[in-house]
Amino acid sequence: MVKTRSFVRFLLNGVQVELSDVSPHATLLDYLRLDQRLTGTKEGCAEGDCGACTVLVGRMVGAELVYETVNACIRFLASVDCQHVVTIEHLTNNYKGLHPVQNAMIQEHGSQCGFCTPGIVMSLYALWMETPKPSVDQIERALQGNLCRCTGYAPILRAAQSISGNPENDPLLEQRAEVSKALLKMNAQERVELDSEEGQVIVPADLDDFASVLAENPDATIVAGATDVGLWVTKFMQPISPVVHISHLQELKSCRVEGGELVVGAGVTYSEFESALRDHFSHLDGFWSRIGGWQVRNMGTIGGNIANGSPIGDTPPMLIALNASIMLRKGQNKRHILLEDFFIEYGKQDLKPGEFLESIQIPLPGKDDLFEVHKISKRKDEDISSVCGAFWMQINAGHVKQARIAFGGMAATPKRAIEVEQRLIGQPWTEETVLLAQGGFTEDFTPISDARASSEYRELLAKNLLMRVFLNSNASVEGAQ
Ligand code: FES
Ligand code: FES
Repeated sequence: MVKTRSFVRFLLNGVQVELSDVSPHATLLDYLRLDQRLTGTKEGCAEGDCGACTVLVGRMVGAELVYETVNACIRFLASVDCQHVVTIEHLTNNYKGLHPVQNAMIQEHGSQCGFCTPGIVMSLYALWMETPKPSVDQIERALQGNLCRCTGYAPILRAAQSISGNPENDPLLEQRAEVSKALLKMNAQERVELDSEEGQVIVPADLDDFASVLAENPDATIVAGATDVGLWVTKFMQPISPVVHISHLQELKSCRVEGGELVVGAGVTYSEFESALRDHFSHLDGFWSRIGGWQVRNMGTIGGNIANGSPIGDTPPMLIALNASIMLRKGQNKRHILLEDFFIEYGKQDLKPGEFLESIQIPLPGKDDLFEVHKISKRKDEDISSVCGAFWMQINAGHVKQARIAFGGMAATPKRAIEVEQRLIGQPWTEETVLLAQGGFTEDFTPISDARASSEYRELLAKNLLMRVFLNSNASVEGAQ
């Protein structure tokens, strides 16, 4: 029998907080600013894009305390149960003066109107703790999710470089043992159930508890990283009760290799997935930095990216091209299907009431397999795909033996380019074959025109991406000779 409590508890800076009256729609940002008057954390876009609301959230990963940047504007308050929320005020209070990251921003003139500054300081602080001597590339990646409209980034980069060195005497590092102890004590494998006038929030204790909560509440809104559901609330004022948060479910957080497959829990974030993939797909590093900003990659989950069924989700094309399958679960019953079969039509997935996505199984490609993913969007950072194409091929003795090609942004769902594949398989891997195969896109897809791209442009992109893959593969063969 799972123990239940009717309040959330977490550490806010240096203080333990317990709250029982928490609406399903309450965001961490509103709580910080309106209830706690911690107004150093700003609200800019309220949709996870600008980073003005950046705070750190610390959570236990096994025995280790890990701090990550998150966007408080779309992070639900109930989801920080058993975690440590750190705001900009904590940095200064602990230093009894300005923190070195704040001083660096002043010395290097990294702030003008100052609205973005607390968020930028929090991102740089998180980077400094994790990587005391970051490269320019690492600094730029850490700041992808922080927009500054008036200072310009050169002084901010200089500030980030000027604090390079070991973060000695940093209070958050010194308090690790104490904070870890407090979080472990809080995390008693309990279910949290909160009822308010605006509805119900449930944070299940573990995976079995989650399955039974969903069986009892088949219409509940499941919230993982909230990078999508957060906007339903902040932008569309949509009621989402009852809400079920998966933040306690360590079982959904694991990545392991099993029988030639990478098995990824549905609650694994983009950041966690990226490090798990690095051993097998190191060449995809560039692709990961095209997904959101650092905060979004720390929050958004692979399971959420699949389950919401968007035709322009970043990960489904690559997972389909790799022939990934998924494990769905309802109560104690599980069902295993190919990921490509999960997407039925726009807004409709093969998911029964009360069923949830438990894990993703990704066959690991052979070392000679060709695998490329290309995301095309209007902006390089923090943008949604116009088209995303993923290409997996086996080429042997100059001929295409196998091909699986999948696209996002070309149809109402993420979808394979079956006709293109057929025109490639068995053929010599030559420019003539690619030119003939390009014609298959017209049969495979009838893309729409919208604000991101016209139908014609999307089709041209898909054709050109196939050619790019061919030219890349030739260049790597020539380079190896
Ligand atoms: Fe813009 Fe939160 S307010 S990301
Ligand atoms: Fe004004 Fe960055 S200092 S937005």
